[in-house]
Amino acid sequence: MEMGLVSLLFLSLLAFSNAEISSKIGVNYGQLGNNLPSPSQSIDLIKTLKAGRVKLYDANPEILNLLAGTKLQVSIMVPNQAISNISSNQTLADEWVRTNVLRFYPETMIRFLLVGNEVLSFNSDQDRQTWYDLVPAMRRIKHSLKNHNIRNIKIGTPLAFDVVESTFPPSNGTFRSDISIPVIKPLLQFLNTTNSFFFLDVYPYFPWSANPAEINLDYALFKGGNLTYTDPGSNLTYTNLFDQMVDSVIFAMTKLGFPNVRLSISETGWPNAGDIEQAGANIYNSATYNRNLIQKMTSKPPVGTPARPGVVIPTFIFALYDENQKTGPGTERHWGLLYPNGTGIYEVDLTGIRPEFEYKQLPAPLNNKPYKGKIWCVVARGVNITELGSALTYACGQVNGTCDVLFPGKECYRPVSLISHANYAFSSYWVQFRGQGGTCYFNGLAVQTTRDPSHGSCEVPSVTL
Ligand SMILES: *[C@@H]1O[C@H](CO)[C@@H](O)[C@H](O)[C@H]1NC(C)=O
Ligand SMILES: *[C@@H]1O[C@H](CO)[C@@H](O)[C@H](O)[C@H]1NC(C)=O
Ligand SMILES: *[C@@H]1O[C@H](CO)[C@@H](O)[C@H](O)[C@H]1NC(C)=O
Ligand SMILES: *[C@@H]1O[C@H](CO)[C@@H](O)[C@H](O)[C@H]1NC(C)=O
Ligand SMILES: *[C@@H]1O[C@H](CO)[C@@H](O)[C@H](O)[C@H]1NC(C)=O
Ligand SMILES: *[C@@H]1O[C@H](CO)[C@@H](O)[C@H](O)[C@H]1NC(C)=O
Ligand SMILES: *[C@@H]1O[C@H](CO)[C@@H](O)[C@H](O)[C@H]1NC(C)=O
Ligand SMILES: *[C@@H]1O[C@H](CO)[C@@H](O)[C@H](O)[C@H]1NC(C)=O
Ligand SMILES: *[C@@H]1O[C@H](CO)[C@@H](O)[C@H](O)[C@H]1NC(C)=O
Repeated sequence: MEMGLVSLLFLSLLAFSNAEISSKIGVNYGQLGNNLPSPSQSIDLIKTLKAGRVKLYDANPEILNLLAGTKLQVSIMVPNQAISNISSNQTLADEWVRTNVLRFYPETMIRFLLVGNEVLSFNSDQDRQTWYDLVPAMRRIKHSLKNHNIRNIKIGTPLAFDVVESTFPPSNGTFRSDISIPVIKPLLQFLNTTNSFFFLDVYPYFPWSANPAEINLDYALFKGGNLTYTDPGSNLTYTNLFDQMVDSVIFAMTKLGFPNVRLSISETGWPNAGDIEQAGANIYNSATYNRNLIQKMTSKPPVGTPARPGVVIPTFIFALYDENQKTGPGTERHWGLLYPNGTGIYEVDLTGIRPEFEYKQLPAPLNNKPYKGKIWCVVARGVNITELGSALTYACGQVNGTCDVLFPGKECYRPVSLISHANYAFSSYWVQFRGQGGTCYFNGLAVQTTRDPSHGSCEVPSVTL
């Protein structure tokens, strides 16, 4: 009789802790777009997607108010710039918690409070100061929450995959030597003591796109069939790249003496489009990756990873929308599940219940093999002429020689048109600076093309892949 009661109690405790870390998929609500639906429309869309959680990159009061009374579990973020001051001043930590948590909690189900975003990936002198201030700031925020008797908000900090320096084989996983002892070890100590999560951003797209000849695309998309890799250091067998990446971090944590800190995937996804030179960024792969990821993360019983079988890993997909104000290569603006008008880019069921055959056929992937040939960087359609003038000046002004042939009497002077001159200037700039991270973007004024804009004796420079 008594045993029965005890085990019932035990079971309900288990059920409680499982509810707290349910396998419901979350979505990252990024807002770096000038054409996105309102917060209220966005929350409706998040509900329509059947997400269980939403992660913000700030603590926007309008959004937090709108989330009150919904069933969505919410993750909010302390901005990177606020970390150093908070780390040395409890009053500031208390103020942050009052303004951004207490005003909304508990009606808004804030469950994760993330301190900074990918803090350890920035590397100026000031950024490095933030590294050392990170855990002290987390402790102060924790102290504030504790003073208010709030126990169901976990404090963490999302880190990019560049925190590990050796990732292959997974058993060889090691944290970067510059942060391992001074930052990661105290972080793990904090997370272990507070029973929080190590939040990790995991993108198999990046290692695959850096090395498409060596890594099987299907393996990166969770559809490798019988393709496996056995880690000689652990004898664990892998069936996809995601598990390999995650386990390298588990092994790195284990080496620092924290084998049991829980893991949450704060961002993952696959781009649905990108520049011509960015193979594999397409709707087919994006849908395949996200659907398979959701299946894995919502499966019952949970599958976990080879190093941690059977464990639930709270996961947030990046991102809700394609965000047109992100800079960098084309993929950066195409991580969304939804177009900015709120339409799905492809069908996806975040509950993982919908079977594969109920989806409409996806458009065939046309760029899974890296493009071979010449690419030019030219003016995009329908751009603002005033802005184009400034971009032309910028492109020509970086080094001498970029635009010499555009002067009167030179090969590319005629036709005397802003577009024709900008086509030359953008290409010439891109060819010179691509190796140093220069992109063919110019704030949306430029796009890559395989159509040669050369004319007459004017030969426009190109990148050859
Ligand atoms: C941090 O504190 C210093 C000194 O009080 C202040 O000048 C600075 O503006 C603060 N930084 C931020 C990001 O609030
Ligand atoms: C901490 O921050 C509060 C609020 O901004 C400020 O009044 C106080 O002077 C700061 N304390 C220290 C030691 O800097
Ligand atoms: C393990 O990582 C180290 C670098 O941290 C590297 O030198 C070594 O080759 C790796 N081992 C294997 C088996 O790849
Ligand atoms: C981590 O937390 C567990 C559970 O509280 C504890 O048993 C263990 O000793 C902790 N590990 C370290 C290295 O502090
Ligand atoms: C995997 O292997 C099994 C047994 O060897 C075979 O029947 C099956 O067709 C294979 N599946 C794929 C997707 O290759
Ligand atoms: C892996 O398996 C082989 C063969 O069964 C065994 O000899 C070896 O000791 C195992 N290694 C580890 C790290 O478990
Ligand atoms: C939404 O935007 C996409 C991409 O621009 C477009 O294909 C689609 O037709 C739009 N849907 C609606 C309902 O406007
Ligand atoms: C073009 O850009 C300029 C500078 O940003 C801006 O002032 C102007 O309103 C824009 N024109 C149009 C038609 O959008
Ligand atoms: C280009 O050359 C001129 C004259 O030699 C020089 O004054 C200028 O600084 C140079 N500009 C750049 C961007 O190198």
